[in-house]
Amino acid sequence: MPKIKIEGNHQLSGTIDVGGAKNSAVALIPAAILCDETVTISNVPNITDVDDLERILIHLNAKINRGENKVEISSENIINKEINEDLSKKLRASYYFMGALLGKFGKVEMYFPGGCAIGARPINLHLKGFELLGATITEEENHFTIEAEQLKGNNIYLDFPSVGATINIMLAAVKAKGKTIIENAAKEPEIVNVATFLNNMGAKIKGAGTSTIKITGVKYLHSCFHEVIPDRIEAGTYLIIASLIGKDLTISNIIPNHLEALIAKLNECGVEMEQGIDYIRVLEPKEYKATSIKTLVYPGFPTDLQQIMATFLTQCKGRSVIEETIYENRFLNLFELNKMGADTKVLANNQKAIIKGKTKLIGTEVNSTDLRGGASLLVAALIAEGTTTIDNIGYILRGYDKIVEKLSSVGAKIEII
Ligand code: EPZ
Repeated sequence: MPKIKIEGNHQLSGTIDVGGAKNSAVALIPAAILCDETVTISNVPNITDVDDLERILIHLNAKINRGENKVEISSENIINKEINEDLSKKLRASYYFMGALLGKFGKVEMYFPGGCAIGARPINLHLKGFELLGATITEEENHFTIEAEQLKGNNIYLDFPSVGATINIMLAAVKAKGKTIIENAAKEPEIVNVATFLNNMGAKIKGAGTSTIKITGVKYLHSCFHEVIPDRIEAGTYLIIASLIGKDLTISNIIPNHLEALIAKLNECGVEMEQGIDYIRVLEPKEYKATSIKTLVYPGFPTDLQQIMATFLTQCKGRSVIEETIYENRFLNLFELNKMGADTKVLANNQKAIIKGKTKLIGTEVNSTDLRGGASLLVAALIAEGTTTIDNIGYILRGYDKIVEKLSSVGAKIEII
């Protein structure tokens, strides 16, 4: 298994360009099959999740043209085939083919294994939405058959503003008969990016980005061009790196107001940032003070940056508290950080962690437990004394396009061995 090797404590200078949002691209690509013609999506990150989705499209006989950060998809000859376990288990976002195939054909058969390191991650809210649109669902051992004679619009209240359920229900509803209202919908920017894509094809979606999304079904969706929004989690990861070890380091191609919660917290800790329209620049690290973080749905502090923020908090003087309210098991990276000299403790209910700083981090062998956990270790390795090797880097490469090249280009001593 390849590893990432980093020699820490090298200040980073220059500019890092952020790519397209993974959590938008992985919804846009399945959504593309709803179109009755060809669609082109630009600013697509070159990550393994996109490769895995491409495999599913090819399995369905869709035609793909993959360019540098671009994908052209035509579904004229698509076949509604069962998506087997090998294809669907590679990434959770394969579940968007449920909404897309149901929305296009009124039927979908696919395996979908639940759960992952950070939590159980059920899809009950997705399924509730499909049923309210008139679908019947049979499930045995992770194999789902979801079908509807005629999908009909309905009012759907989400018990939790789930990102995946909001998008999946939108995909199933855009061609349903009549009007659908999603109440307590998630408001993440990726949802707006998907709704804009569908509207560019001729769908009728209003209110994306608010808690109430109204969808009026249409019969036909025509071709369009669309662009993936910048990845706010990739941007936040590099902004935290800049705050820790940047010496005039600029993070560009970003939408700063998608990072409001992180920027507010970094300011609270004492980070000095120069903020532009589409970039943020850190001139040099300062002495930082501890703070408390509570993860919430957008626009609150994003759970996907919680683990990376934990690394930052090891360098903040005092006692920081992190409360994770979205997932039940998202502190696995702290045990690895402690191997590097961090002083962190997870409280009994596994929803709160205490981080004492400022602690010196020393390079050693560590293991990625999940995508963002792996990123938190990579950030720690960049500031640690000595050399760190990180195992299980497939997780990291899933979510960060060209991360080794981007960091090397600003002076990091990082390589894949
Ligand atoms: C998306 O996952 C992201 N993934 C996650 O990013 C992100 O952490 C999450 O949204 C929250 O922002 C993609 O977009 C591909 P949810 P998703 O449905 O849609 C519970 C990363 O690092 N829930 O908002 O699965 C669920 O168990 C990944 O890029 C139900 O109980 O998130 C979780 O505790 C990690 N029933 C919470 O809601 C459901 O039907 C949030 O889930 C659906 C979700």
